[in-house]
Amino acid sequence: MTSKHKKLNDWVGEIAAMCRPDAICWCDGSRGEYDRLMQQLTASGMAIPLAKRPNSFLFRSQPSDVARLEARTYISTASRDDAGPTNNWVDPGELKATMRGLYQGCMRGRTLYVIPFSMGPIDSPLAKIGVEITDSPYVVCNMHIMTRVGTGVLEKLGADGEFIPCLHSLGAPLAPGEPDSTWPCAPLDKKYISHFPEENLIWSYGSGYGGNAMLGKKCLALRIASAMAKREGWMAEHMLILRLIDPAGKQYHIAAAFPSACGKTNLAMLTPAISGWRCECIGDDIAWIKIGPDGRPYAINPEYGFFGVATGTSYASNPSAMDTIKENVIFTNCALTDDGDIWWEGMDSEPPGHAINWKGRDWTPGSKNPAAHANSRFTAPAAQCPVICPDWEKPEGVPIDIFIFGGRRAGVMPLVHEAYDWDHGVFMGATASSETTAANIGAVGNLRRDPFAMKPFCGYNMADYFQHWLDMGDRLGKYAPRIFYVNWFRKNQEGKWLWPGFGDNSRVLKWMCERIDDTVGAVETPIGLMPKEGDLDLAGLAIPATDLKELLRVDADAWKAELSDIERHFGQFGDRLPERLRKQLNDLKKRLG
Ligand code: OXD
Ligand code: MN
Repeated sequence: MTSKHKKLNDWVGEIAAMCRPDAICWCDGSRGEYDRLMQQLTASGMAIPLAKRPNSFLFRSQPSDVARLEARTYISTASRDDAGPTNNWVDPGELKATMRGLYQGCMRGRTLYVIPFSMGPIDSPLAKIGVEITDSPYVVCNMHIMTRVGTGVLEKLGADGEFIPCLHSLGAPLAPGEPDSTWPCAPLDKKYISHFPEENLIWSYGSGYGGNAMLGKKCLALRIASAMAKREGWMAEHMLILRLIDPAGKQYHIAAAFPSACGKTNLAMLTPAISGWRCECIGDDIAWIKIGPDGRPYAINPEYGFFGVATGTSYASNPSAMDTIKENVIFTNCALTDDGDIWWEGMDSEPPGHAINWKGRDWTPGSKNPAAHANSRFTAPAAQCPVICPDWEKPEGVPIDIFIFGGRRAGVMPLVHEAYDWDHGVFMGATASSETTAANIGAVGNLRRDPFAMKPFCGYNMADYFQHWLDMGDRLGKYAPRIFYVNWFRKNQEGKWLWPGFGDNSRVLKWMCERIDDTVGAVETPIGLMPKEGDLDLAGLAIPATDLKELLRVDADAWKAELSDIERHFGQFGDRLPERLRKQLNDLKKRLG
């Protein structure tokens, strides 16, 4: 099979000539295709069917291929400055030459799959079409869940529609008769996750894991899309989207940006602890936002599934996620129980007496090695989420009322503060910070600035991205969402969390909604507007008054100590940093005294 699209057919032919696969398969996105591939993966020992969960499978990656690889991720623009100081850069000519060398013959012994996919509902004006070429059937199955795959996409593409070419190879060719490994991939120094935003092109080599390999997610929907959005006047953000409904039925739409593994999926599927309030999930990771005909910002979730962190997910932390993953799920790097189920640290159930850990070895409770990898994942269809919003596939999206930024900080950052105005909110986003997590390869727990939770995902110079936010605020005017900053992770002297988090986070969201409706006041502090005593609805929550005080304390000395770090952070952008953000920093300094 080929398509009606000459440019697409030519591209597939060109890649096949370079990568030399044994066969080519055009994916139709059907259930039959998924089942066939899973059968094949099961027969080869890569997939382990789970007796306890219908149509669900466990995969174990190689220990060197367990997360995103920021150090091997490139934004390759003609000028280094256009990639900016927060991205790795190599000249496009040089990078392509290196990668072409790697791609030569890299699919020998394998099948090349062509996956036409849509990010966003196919009929949405915000949707974009991509075509991924991959030699990994595991990636094909994940793409089936995470994006809208198949013939409907090719029909929309027609003979000359625009598509984003996404090339992926495991980088593990097979000699004739050579047995395959259960997780083929290339060594770390041969892995590349490359983006050419000036020509909307993605080339990924050597990793089979997550966002390195399912190219619709981080590569297309964030890195390439953010650059397109800047050019075209919309926004591609690392944000969950949720609808909060008050007891009277009034709806509020919230988009929130947090770094990876900071609880976005949990917040997106929140079960409010406050009576009468409900939450519906629209997306847990990415938001594409465009100004609608009425001037308001409308957001869609471009994805079709959840690629959630499994470790720590439980009926206590996220019951809706637990109910989403009962069937039709791909699990990666979880532990396998003797009765054919998965398990991970932090699941409600008692640890199994014995399991096979994510490395495929025997595991018993008390073992010094974890049963599941800290970045173990589930890939599950969004439609299976019990609190999925009935409007989650609305082509025009939902109107956003509130933006939230945040991160994981043991100190300094209070539970919540509100921006004085849009520019101040952009400053909050631009200076957001968090302790690093296992979602990226590297040390866990180090503090880093992660502006708008986009440090690993911004496909162009971050200073220009800040300017884009300022420009969007100017265009939105009175429809600009209000901006808040939260920190669910503040700790006391003994290192204990001060805030219960999870469903109780609804108390903070309620305050934000009341701020929008102007039914609650706020105190002005040097860092922003904060709830007064008694403003947060704490009914039914036994939280010591001293803890609450600490959660809402503005530690002026600690903030002053942050200033030099913010200055250093801003300094890396040189003259490209928008003047309006420099002014915000000076205003903050003045307010801190
Ligand atoms: C993710 C990430 O997988 O941000 O969503 O790392
Ligand atoms: Mn993410």
